[in-house]
This record gives sequence, C-alpha cells and structure tokens, in this order.
Amino acid sequence: MQRTLFVVDDNEVNRATAKQTLEGRYRVFPLPSALKMLELLEKVVPDLILLDIEMPQMSGVDAVAKIKANSAWENIPFMFMTSWGEDLMMNHCLQLGAFDIVHKPFVGAVLINRVENCLKIDGLIQRAERMGRNQAGLACVLSDIIESRDVKNAGHVERIAAYVKLMVAALLEKGVYAEELRAWDMDAVVVAAMLHDVGKISVPEAILGGSNLTMEQYAVLWGHAATGEAIMDALSAKSEDKDLWPLARRFAGCHHENWNGSGYPNALKGEQIPLEGRILAVVDMYDELRCGRYQAAVDHTRAVGLIQRDADVRYDPKIVAAFLEIQKAVAQIAEGKTAKAEPAPDAPSIAKKLLGMGMAIDDIVTATSLSRKDVERLRDAETE
Ligand SMILES: [Fe+2]
Repeated sequence: MQRTLFVVDDNEVNRATAKQTLEGRYRVFPLPSALKMLELLEKVVPDLILLDIEMPQMSGVDAVAKIKANSAWENIPFMFMTSWGEDLMMNHCLQLGAFDIVHKPFVGAVLINRVENCLKIDGLIQRAERMGRNQAGLACVLSDIIESRDVKNAGHVERIAAYVKLMVAALLEKGVYAEELRAWDMDAVVVAAMLHDVGKISVPEAILGGSNLTMEQYAVLWGHAATGEAIMDALSAKSEDKDLWPLARRFAGCHHENWNGSGYPNALKGEQIPLEGRILAVVDMYDELRCGRYQAAVDHTRAVGLIQRDADVRYDPKIVAAFLEIQKAVAQIAEGKTAKAEPAPDAPSIAKKLLGMGMAIDDIVTATSLSRKDVERLRDAETE
C-alpha cells in the first residue's frame, strides 16, 4: 500500500514541485497552510509530514507544537523544508523532533532519498518499540537490519561485540582509563557497540555492497555516523531507557572521529572523542582491513601495522598499545577461530522472554549465545 505524505507549504511552486517529485511513489496531499494540515489530520493520519517553517498564520514550528499536543498525532514523523541556513536551523529543528531537514529549492533525488530515509528510520523505531525494552532482542533486530543490507559485512556486528569486550578487559588490566571503564555497564556497552553502524540504513545498498567507491559515494557512506546519532536521539526521545541510547549514540557518532581531529562527523580531537568512539575506531578499522569491506582484505600483520602506523594520528595511542597486547586473541576472532561466546548467566531467562515475543530461534541464539539445542529445549518446556 502506498504511504501517505502531507506537504505543507504556502508557496505554490514548492508544493507543486514536491508533489510532482513524490507522486507515484507516495500518496501526496499538498496543503497551503498549517491550518489546512490540522483540518485534514482530523480525517487522515499520514506516514510523514513535510513542513515548511515560515508560513503566515501558523509557522511550521507552531504546527509541530499542535501535533505533539495531540496523542493521536504525536508520533507522526515530520521533517522540515527550509531555505534557511542549515547551521542556524539544524539544531533547533532536530530538538523539536524533526527527523530531517530538506532544503529548498528541492533537488528531486535528494528529496526522494530524504523521505525514504525518514520512513525507514520511523519503521525501525516502531520495530524497536514493539520489541519493548529487551536490549538483547532489540540489538539483534537492529543489527540484523544492518547486516542484511551489507553482504560484505557478515558477522561484523558479533565480532565487534567480542573485540570491544577484549579491549575493555585489556585496558582495565593495564590500568588505562580504568576509572571510566569501571563505571561501564558492560551488557549495555556490548549492545550499544553492536548498533554502531545503524546509520547505514540511510546508505544505498549499491554503495554498501560496492567497491572502488567514488568520492561522492564515500561522502554518502560517511553520512552514516551523523545518521546514527540522529537515530539514537530519536530512540532516546521515545524510550524510557535513558542510558542505552546516549551510550549507543557515542558509539554510532564517534567511531569515525580521528585522534588528530581529521575525522567525521564532528572533527572531534583527542580526548574530546568519547572513549567508546576511540575504542571502536581501532577494532572497527581492524575488522574492516581484515574483511576488505571497501578495499582489498589484508592479513593480520599488515592490518596491525597500519593501525600502529596511525596511532597518535587516527587512534588514541594508549588504546593502540592495549590493542597490540591482545592482537592474538583479536586475530582469532577475525578468523572465526574463537570458541563461541559464553552465554551470560541470565541468558535462559532472556531467551524465554524473546520466545514469548515470538522471535526466531536463530535470532535468539545470536542474542543470547545459547546453543540452538538449549533454546529449542526452553521453547519445548514453555509449550508443554
Ligand atoms: Fe561505521
């Protein structure tokens, strides 16, 4: 079924352009004012609202306040359309809960891409909400979405979880950043780390699966870190769990920052980069080098050499030093030679909850590290 969009703009040309661009893919209602939008909302609840900011009678910002004040409409995703400077407005619009901001005059392909992304992200949030607050189940669903779109990336999420656990243990052992690390809730850290590339939902599959990317394609790929931050902010706003999503935001938004300030999306430098991002940067790059996601794969020695070369440039030198000490164990994870991760002590009770939620057996095995046989035994016991 076609999804429904409202395009609310007092400028007739903008309404016509948006309608012409989006019609065919979506059921589009062009509306000349926020008041007309509120009228139509009484009869039709759209999947997404594209809202001009500056309009006579009622501005887009005031219209959002009306939408948010009505429990039947408060969860409708919306994005602003603006010709204002991005730097001035971006933060304010995002704080209001906008999924995105699209600039006028529209570029057709950009508008379509932004609308598709908003709808995908909203779908992802709805799925996450249906999964409730069960973090293992949620991580499993979200990481499945990431991996299903990136065939070269198979197993990356699970390996990242294993590397991060090892890295934290190694840093604690060396007494490096120990005070901060001792305060970490490792269950939440592992879940949050697994979600680091969730922003790739906004990257077309042709780029995720491509090789020898052009600079333009790399720019789209690099956008995943900022998209990841926006997704975590949206999840945080809708969730009672106020710890997981900010933690996941630090992993998603900071794992491509560089120690010398040359990274993205915010060009943070040194210890301005949250520790989560600094740790993930090293192990994520190691995994990328070994698997050859975007360039030819290299062997362990070469991968370690490249990381060592970039200590103090791209990576926190203290973290690289700890990484070098555990490199044998890291190599085993990359080569799939490690024993399967030990299930957590509460894994059976988590598995029972996931069974109750109707999750597939394979997904439960991944989420809990229990064997398939154990999960089947729990399922059979529940149904007896
Ligand atoms: Fe990434």
